[in-house]
Amino acid sequence: MHTRELDQQYIIGTYKRQNVVLTRGCGAVAYDEEGKAYIDFGSGIGVNSLGYCDKKWADAVADQAHCLQHTSNLYYTQPAVRLAQLLCTKTGYRKVLFCNSGAEANEGAIKIARKYSFDKYGVEANRSRILTLQNSFHGRTVTTLAATGQEAFHNYFFPFTEGFSYAPANDINAVKEILGQGGYCAVLFEFIQGEGGVVPLDRDFVDELFRYCEAHDILTIADEVQTGIGRTGTLLASEQFGVKPNITTLAKGLGGGLPIGAVLTDAKTMNVLSFGDHGTTFGANPVVCAGAYEALSRIADSDFLAEVRRKGDVLRMALLTSDEVESVAGLGMMLGVTLRTKAVADVLKACVERGLLPLTAKAKLRLLPPLIIDDETLEKGIQILLSVLNE
Ligand SMILES: Cc1ncc(COP(=O)(O)O)c(C=O)c1O
Repeated sequence: MHTRELDQQYIIGTYKRQNVVLTRGCGAVAYDEEGKAYIDFGSGIGVNSLGYCDKKWADAVADQAHCLQHTSNLYYTQPAVRLAQLLCTKTGYRKVLFCNSGAEANEGAIKIARKYSFDKYGVEANRSRILTLQNSFHGRTVTTLAATGQEAFHNYFFPFTEGFSYAPANDINAVKEILGQGGYCAVLFEFIQGEGGVVPLDRDFVDELFRYCEAHDILTIADEVQTGIGRTGTLLASEQFGVKPNITTLAKGLGGGLPIGAVLTDAKTMNVLSFGDHGTTFGANPVVCAGAYEALSRIADSDFLAEVRRKGDVLRMALLTSDEVESVAGLGMMLGVTLRTKAVADVLKACVERGLLPLTAKAKLRLLPPLIIDDETLEKGIQILLSVLNE
Protein backbone atom coordinates (compact mmCIF):
# COMPACT_ATOMS: atom_id res chain seq x y z
CA MET A 1 0.00 0.00 0.00
CA HIS A 2 1.18 3.55 -0.64
CA THR A 3 2.23 6.05 1.98
CA ARG A 4 -0.88 8.20 1.50
CA GLU A 5 -3.32 5.34 2.06
CA LEU A 6 -1.33 3.99 5.00
CA ASP A 7 -1.30 7.46 6.54
CA GLN A 8 -5.08 7.70 6.20
CA GLN A 9 -5.54 4.21 7.61
CA TYR A 10 -3.22 4.48 10.62
CA ILE A 11 -2.68 8.14 11.54
CA ILE A 12 -5.45 10.22 13.11
CA GLY A 13 -6.28 12.87 10.55
CA THR A 14 -5.71 16.10 12.47
CA TYR A 15 -3.79 17.63 9.57
CA LYS A 16 -4.80 18.34 6.00
CA ARG A 17 -1.67 17.35 4.10
CA GLN A 18 -0.41 18.52 0.72
CA ASN A 19 -0.43 15.73 -1.84
CA VAL A 20 3.32 15.12 -1.49
CA VAL A 21 5.36 12.38 0.19
CA LEU A 22 8.69 13.89 1.14
CA THR A 23 11.53 11.43 1.43
CA ARG A 24 14.73 13.45 1.81
CA GLY A 25 16.09 16.96 1.86
CA CYS A 26 19.28 18.94 1.49
CA GLY A 27 19.69 22.62 2.36
CA ALA A 28 16.55 24.49 1.27
CA VAL A 29 15.33 21.74 -1.07
CA ALA A 30 13.20 18.67 -0.31
CA TYR A 31 12.52 15.73 -2.65
CA ASP A 32 9.49 13.49 -3.02
CA GLU A 33 9.19 9.77 -3.78
CA GLU A 34 9.62 10.37 -7.51
CA GLY A 35 12.68 12.57 -6.97
CA LYS A 36 10.84 15.81 -7.75
CA ALA A 37 12.51 18.81 -6.04
CA TYR A 38 10.62 21.33 -3.89
CA ILE A 39 12.12 24.62 -2.73
CA ASP A 40 11.24 25.06 0.90
CA PHE A 41 9.65 28.37 1.94
CA GLY A 42 8.18 26.92 5.16
CA SER A 43 10.98 25.19 7.13
CA GLY A 44 8.58 22.60 8.55
CA ILE A 45 6.60 25.54 10.05
CA GLY A 46 9.59 27.55 11.19
CA VAL A 47 11.67 24.67 12.51
CA ASN A 48 14.42 23.77 10.03
CA SER A 49 16.37 26.98 10.49
CA LEU A 50 19.56 25.37 9.13
CA GLY A 51 17.61 23.70 6.31
CA TYR A 52 17.39 19.96 5.71
CA CYS A 53 20.11 17.68 7.05
CA ASP A 54 22.78 20.29 7.64
CA LYS A 55 26.04 18.32 7.86
CA LYS A 56 27.35 19.82 11.12
CA TRP A 57 23.94 19.63 12.79
CA ALA A 58 23.43 16.01 11.70
CA ASP A 59 26.95 15.13 12.91
CA ALA A 60 26.33 16.77 16.30
CA VAL A 61 23.07 14.82 16.66
CA ALA A 62 24.58 11.52 15.46
CA ASP A 63 27.69 11.84 17.64
CA GLN A 64 25.55 12.48 20.70
CA ALA A 65 23.19 9.61 19.79
CA HIS A 66 26.17 7.28 19.64
CA CYS A 67 27.47 8.55 22.98
CA LEU A 68 24.53 9.08 25.36
CA GLN A 69 20.99 9.48 24.02
CA HIS A 70 18.93 9.99 27.17
CA THR A 71 19.50 10.09 30.91
CA SER A 72 16.35 11.70 32.41
CA ASN A 73 16.74 14.86 34.43
CA LEU A 74 17.96 12.93 37.46
CA TYR A 75 21.56 13.33 36.28
CA TYR A 76 23.75 16.15 35.01
CA THR A 77 24.62 16.13 31.32
CA GLN A 78 27.04 18.29 29.34
CA PRO A 79 24.84 19.02 26.27
CA ALA A 80 22.08 20.54 28.43
CA VAL A 81 24.36 22.85 30.41
CA ARG A 82 26.31 23.90 27.30
CA LEU A 83 23.08 24.84 25.57
CA ALA A 84 21.65 26.61 28.63
CA GLN A 85 24.86 28.62 29.06
CA LEU A 86 24.90 29.60 25.38
CA LEU A 87 21.22 30.61 25.48
CA CYS A 88 21.77 32.80 28.55
CA THR A 89 24.97 34.35 27.21
CA LYS A 90 23.46 35.18 23.85
CA THR A 91 20.10 36.48 25.11
CA GLY A 92 21.01 38.07 28.45
CA TYR A 93 18.54 35.87 30.32
CA ARG A 94 19.60 34.21 33.58
CA LYS A 95 18.23 30.65 33.66
CA VAL A 96 16.50 28.21 31.32
CA LEU A 97 13.77 25.61 31.76
CA PHE A 98 13.89 22.99 29.02
CA CYS A 99 10.90 21.10 27.61
CA ASN A 100 9.78 19.60 24.31
CA SER A 101 7.51 21.96 22.40
CA GLY A 102 6.16 25.46 22.13
CA ALA A 103 2.94 24.67 23.94
CA GLU A 104 4.89 23.10 26.77
CA ALA A 105 7.19 26.12 26.99
CA ASN A 106 4.14 28.37 27.30
CA GLU A 107 2.68 26.06 29.96
CA GLY A 108 5.97 26.44 31.87
CA ALA A 109 5.85 30.22 31.54
CA ILE A 110 2.24 30.33 32.75
CA LYS A 111 3.17 28.24 35.79
CA ILE A 112 6.11 30.50 36.59
CA ALA A 113 3.95 33.63 36.30
CA ARG A 114 1.21 32.25 38.54
CA LYS A 115 3.65 30.98 41.16
CA TYR A 116 5.56 34.28 41.10
CA SER A 117 2.39 36.09 42.16
CA PHE A 118 1.34 33.34 44.56
CA ASP A 119 4.72 33.45 46.33
CA LYS A 120 4.84 37.24 46.48
CA TYR A 121 1.23 38.22 47.12
CA GLY A 122 -0.34 35.08 48.60
CA VAL A 123 -3.34 33.05 47.52
CA GLU A 124 -5.81 35.55 48.99
CA ALA A 125 -4.63 38.24 46.54
CA ASN A 126 -6.11 36.02 43.82
CA ARG A 127 -3.61 37.35 41.32
CA SER A 128 -3.59 34.45 38.89
CA ARG A 129 -5.15 35.86 35.73
CA ILE A 130 -3.20 36.21 32.50
CA LEU A 131 -4.04 38.63 29.71
CA THR A 132 -3.40 37.52 26.13
CA LEU A 133 -4.18 39.22 22.83
CA GLN A 134 -6.97 38.56 20.38
CA ASN A 135 -5.84 36.66 17.28
CA SER A 136 -2.91 35.10 19.19
CA PHE A 137 -1.82 31.47 19.09
CA HIS A 138 -0.06 29.81 22.00
CA GLY A 139 -0.46 26.04 21.50
CA ARG A 140 -2.80 23.07 21.57
CA THR A 141 -2.80 21.86 25.18
CA VAL A 142 -5.98 22.58 27.10
CA THR A 143 -4.31 25.50 28.90
CA THR A 144 -2.56 27.02 25.89
CA LEU A 145 -5.76 26.72 23.87
CA ALA A 146 -7.40 28.76 26.62
CA ALA A 147 -4.53 31.25 26.36
CA THR A 148 -5.01 31.49 22.60
CA GLY A 149 -7.13 34.55 21.84
CA GLN A 150 -9.26 33.06 19.07
CA GLU A 151 -12.78 31.81 19.67
CA ALA A 152 -12.37 29.11 17.02
CA PHE A 153 -9.95 27.30 19.34
CA HIS A 154 -12.29 27.37 22.36
CA ASN A 155 -14.41 24.45 21.34
CA TYR A 156 -15.13 20.78 22.09
CA PHE A 157 -12.60 20.26 24.89
CA PHE A 158 -14.45 21.86 27.79
CA PRO A 159 -13.74 22.76 30.50
CA PHE A 160 -10.76 24.89 29.49
CA THR A 161 -8.28 26.26 32.03
CA GLU A 162 -9.69 29.33 33.75
CA GLY A 163 -8.03 32.67 34.24
CA PHE A 164 -7.42 34.07 30.75
CA SER A 165 -8.76 37.33 29.29
CA TYR A 166 -8.22 38.68 25.79
CA ALA A 167 -7.59 42.23 24.65
CA PRO A 168 -7.39 43.57 21.09
CA ALA A 169 -3.75 43.74 19.95
CA ASN A 170 -2.33 47.26 19.63
CA ASP A 171 -5.11 48.78 21.77
CA ILE A 172 -3.29 49.94 24.89
CA ASN A 173 -6.39 51.51 26.44
CA ALA A 174 -8.28 48.22 26.25
CA VAL A 175 -5.29 46.43 27.80
CA LYS A 176 -5.02 48.93 30.64
CA GLU A 177 -8.74 48.79 31.30
CA ILE A 178 -8.64 45.00 31.72
CA LEU A 179 -5.41 44.92 33.74
CA GLY A 180 -6.71 47.78 35.88
CA GLN A 181 -9.49 45.53 37.15
CA GLY A 182 -6.81 43.69 39.15
CA GLY A 183 -6.05 40.01 39.60
CA TYR A 184 -3.47 39.76 36.79
CA CYS A 185 -0.02 38.23 37.18
CA ALA A 186 1.11 38.39 33.54
CA VAL A 187 0.56 39.41 29.94
CA LEU A 188 1.42 36.78 27.30
CA PHE A 189 1.88 37.91 23.69
CA GLU A 190 3.67 37.33 20.38
CA PHE A 191 5.66 40.26 18.92
CA ILE A 192 4.42 39.06 15.53
CA GLN A 193 1.29 36.92 15.59
CA GLY A 194 2.39 34.05 13.39
CA GLU A 195 -0.55 31.68 13.06
CA GLY A 196 -2.81 34.74 13.26
CA GLY A 197 -1.52 35.89 9.85
CA VAL A 198 1.92 37.42 10.52
CA VAL A 199 0.58 40.49 12.32
CA PRO A 200 3.25 42.55 14.13
CA LEU A 201 2.57 44.54 17.28
CA ASP A 202 3.08 48.31 17.09
CA ARG A 203 6.22 49.53 18.81
CA ASP A 204 4.31 52.22 20.73
CA PHE A 205 1.88 49.63 22.02
CA VAL A 206 4.75 47.41 23.18
CA ASP A 207 6.46 50.37 24.88
CA GLU A 208 3.36 51.37 26.79
CA LEU A 209 2.52 47.78 27.67
CA PHE A 210 5.95 47.23 29.19
CA ARG A 211 5.83 50.51 31.11
CA TYR A 212 2.43 49.63 32.56
CA CYS A 213 3.39 46.06 33.46
CA GLU A 214 6.64 47.14 35.10
CA ALA A 215 4.81 49.73 37.20
CA HIS A 216 2.23 47.17 38.39
CA ASP A 217 4.53 44.16 38.80
CA ILE A 218 2.69 42.29 36.06
CA LEU A 219 5.10 39.92 34.28
CA THR A 220 5.68 40.20 30.54
CA ILE A 221 5.88 36.85 28.75
CA ALA A 222 6.96 36.91 25.10
CA ASP A 223 5.95 33.86 23.12
CA GLU A 224 8.87 33.73 20.67
CA VAL A 225 8.17 30.15 19.67
CA GLN A 226 7.84 31.26 16.04
CA THR A 227 9.69 34.61 16.03
CA GLY A 228 12.71 33.50 18.06
CA ILE A 229 16.17 32.17 17.14
CA GLY A 230 16.94 34.38 14.17
CA ARG A 231 13.64 34.08 12.31
CA THR A 232 13.02 37.85 12.29
CA GLY A 233 16.64 38.80 11.63
CA THR A 234 17.70 39.24 15.25
CA LEU A 235 18.23 36.41 17.70
CA LEU A 236 15.03 37.39 19.51
CA ALA A 237 12.34 39.62 18.02
CA SER A 238 12.26 41.54 21.32
CA GLU A 239 15.59 43.16 20.34
CA GLN A 240 13.83 44.97 17.48
CA PHE A 241 11.12 46.23 19.83
CA GLY A 242 13.71 47.48 22.36
CA VAL A 243 12.23 45.61 25.36
CA LYS A 244 13.25 42.76 27.63
CA PRO A 245 10.32 40.54 28.69
CA ASN A 246 10.56 38.88 32.10
CA ILE A 247 10.08 35.54 30.36
CA THR A 248 10.61 34.45 26.75
CA THR A 249 9.45 31.10 25.41
CA LEU A 250 11.19 29.33 22.54
CA ALA A 251 10.77 26.13 20.52
CA LYS A 252 10.58 25.52 16.73
CA GLY A 253 13.85 26.92 15.26
CA LEU A 254 15.89 26.31 18.40
CA GLY A 255 16.30 22.59 17.78
CA GLY A 256 17.09 22.81 14.07
CA GLY A 257 14.62 19.95 13.47
CA LEU A 258 14.31 18.02 16.71
CA PRO A 259 11.66 18.74 19.37
CA ILE A 260 12.71 21.20 22.05
CA GLY A 261 11.14 24.02 24.01
CA ALA A 262 12.77 26.48 26.38
CA VAL A 263 11.59 29.04 28.91
CA LEU A 264 14.08 31.88 29.41
CA THR A 265 13.80 33.66 32.75
CA ASP A 266 15.23 36.92 34.09
CA ALA A 267 16.39 37.86 37.59
CA LYS A 268 12.78 38.26 38.76
CA THR A 269 11.54 34.92 37.50
CA MET A 270 14.55 32.57 37.48
CA ASN A 271 14.09 31.14 40.96
CA VAL A 272 10.29 30.88 41.07
CA LEU A 273 10.28 27.16 40.33
CA SER A 274 12.37 24.88 42.46
CA PHE A 275 12.75 21.23 43.29
CA GLY A 276 9.56 19.27 42.62
CA ASP A 277 7.55 22.15 41.12
CA HIS A 278 7.80 21.02 37.51
CA GLY A 279 9.29 18.34 35.30
CA THR A 280 9.20 16.53 31.99
CA THR A 281 10.93 13.24 31.19
CA PHE A 282 12.35 14.21 27.83
CA GLY A 283 13.21 17.86 28.66
CA ALA A 284 16.89 18.70 28.02
CA ASN A 285 17.40 15.47 26.10
CA PRO A 286 21.13 15.28 25.23
CA VAL A 287 20.67 14.49 21.52
CA VAL A 288 18.21 17.33 21.05
CA CYS A 289 20.42 19.72 23.04
CA ALA A 290 23.50 18.80 20.99
CA GLY A 291 21.64 19.66 17.76
CA ALA A 292 20.23 22.85 19.29
CA TYR A 293 23.71 23.95 20.37
CA GLU A 294 24.93 23.65 16.79
CA ALA A 295 21.90 25.58 15.49
CA LEU A 296 22.09 28.32 18.12
CA SER A 297 25.84 28.85 17.91
CA ARG A 298 25.59 29.39 14.13
CA ILE A 299 22.43 31.53 14.16
CA ALA A 300 23.49 33.79 17.04
CA ASP A 301 26.32 35.17 14.89
CA SER A 302 25.88 38.81 13.81
CA ASP A 303 26.92 38.13 10.18
CA PHE A 304 24.45 35.23 9.96
CA LEU A 305 21.65 37.45 11.29
CA ALA A 306 22.56 40.28 8.89
CA GLU A 307 22.16 37.76 6.05
CA VAL A 308 18.70 36.80 7.33
CA ARG A 309 17.67 40.46 7.21
CA ARG A 310 19.17 40.93 3.74
CA LYS A 311 17.50 37.82 2.29
CA GLY A 312 14.22 38.79 3.97
CA ASP A 313 14.43 42.18 2.21
CA VAL A 314 15.15 40.49 -1.15
CA LEU A 315 12.06 38.33 -0.72
CA ARG A 316 9.88 41.25 0.40
CA MET A 317 10.96 43.50 -2.48
CA ALA A 318 10.44 40.74 -5.05
CA LEU A 319 6.92 40.09 -3.76
CA LEU A 320 6.04 43.76 -3.94
CA THR A 321 6.74 43.75 -7.70
CA SER A 322 3.60 41.65 -8.20
CA ASP A 323 0.29 43.43 -8.82
CA GLU A 324 -1.38 40.55 -6.99
CA VAL A 325 0.39 41.47 -3.75
CA GLU A 326 -1.44 44.05 -1.67
CA SER A 327 1.06 44.16 1.19
CA VAL A 328 3.83 42.23 2.92
CA ALA A 329 3.99 42.18 6.72
CA GLY A 330 6.59 40.76 9.08
CA LEU A 331 10.31 41.02 9.80
CA GLY A 332 13.38 39.20 8.53
CA MET A 333 12.39 35.86 7.04
CA MET A 334 8.96 35.75 8.66
CA LEU A 335 6.67 37.31 6.07
CA GLY A 336 2.90 37.36 5.58
CA VAL A 337 1.59 38.30 2.14
CA THR A 338 -1.87 39.78 1.62
CA LEU A 339 -3.20 38.92 -1.82
CA ARG A 340 -5.56 41.13 -3.82
CA THR A 341 -7.70 38.65 -5.74
CA LYS A 342 -6.47 35.08 -5.49
CA ALA A 343 -7.53 32.58 -2.83
CA VAL A 344 -4.54 31.59 -0.74
CA ALA A 345 -5.44 27.87 -0.90
CA ASP A 346 -5.27 28.00 -4.72
CA VAL A 347 -1.90 29.75 -4.64
CA LEU A 348 -0.54 27.17 -2.21
CA LYS A 349 -1.73 24.28 -4.38
CA ALA A 350 -0.24 25.80 -7.56
CA CYS A 351 3.08 26.48 -5.80
CA VAL A 352 3.35 22.88 -4.58
CA GLU A 353 2.61 21.59 -8.09
CA ARG A 354 5.44 23.78 -9.44
CA GLY A 355 7.92 22.71 -6.76
CA LEU A 356 7.64 25.32 -3.99
CA LEU A 357 6.49 24.73 -0.40
CA PRO A 358 5.10 27.92 1.16
CA LEU A 359 2.74 28.13 4.15
CA THR A 360 -0.49 29.95 4.82
CA ALA A 361 -1.78 31.75 7.90
CA LYS A 362 -5.42 32.82 7.90
CA ALA A 363 -6.03 34.40 4.47
CA LYS A 364 -2.35 35.20 3.94
CA LEU A 365 0.51 33.42 2.32
CA ARG A 366 3.15 32.86 5.02
CA LEU A 367 6.81 32.54 4.10
CA LEU A 368 9.37 31.12 6.54
CA PRO A 369 12.28 29.93 4.37
CA PRO A 370 15.19 28.13 6.01
CA LEU A 371 17.53 30.82 7.35
CA ILE A 372 20.48 29.32 5.42
CA ILE A 373 18.79 29.48 2.00
CA ASP A 374 21.32 30.60 -0.66
CA ASP A 375 20.62 33.42 -3.11
CA GLU A 376 20.20 31.15 -6.11
CA THR A 377 17.62 28.90 -4.43
CA LEU A 378 15.83 31.92 -2.98
CA GLU A 379 15.63 33.46 -6.45
CA LYS A 380 14.29 30.21 -7.96
CA GLY A 381 11.64 30.04 -5.25
CA ILE A 382 10.71 33.69 -5.85
CA GLN A 383 10.32 33.03 -9.58
CA ILE A 384 7.96 30.09 -8.94
CA LEU A 385 5.92 32.18 -6.52
CA LEU A 386 5.73 35.16 -8.87
CA SER A 387 4.74 32.91 -11.78
CA VAL A 388 1.80 31.65 -9.71
CA LEU A 389 0.83 35.08 -8.40
CA ASN A 390 1.09 36.83 -11.77
CA GLU A 391 -0.80 34.21 -13.75
C1 LIG B 1 3.64 31.55 18.66
C2 LIG B 1 3.44 30.09 18.89
N1 LIG B 1 3.33 29.63 20.15
C3 LIG B 1 3.17 28.33 20.41
C4 LIG B 1 3.09 27.40 19.40
C5 LIG B 1 2.91 25.96 19.72
O1 LIG B 1 4.11 25.29 19.50
P1 LIG B 1 4.13 23.68 19.42
O2 LIG B 1 3.37 23.32 18.19
O3 LIG B 1 5.59 23.35 19.33
O4 LIG B 1 3.50 23.18 20.66
C6 LIG B 1 3.18 27.84 18.07
C7 LIG B 1 3.06 26.87 16.97
O5 LIG B 1 2.78 27.19 15.85
C8 LIG B 1 3.38 29.21 17.81
O6 LIG B 1 3.48 29.67 16.56
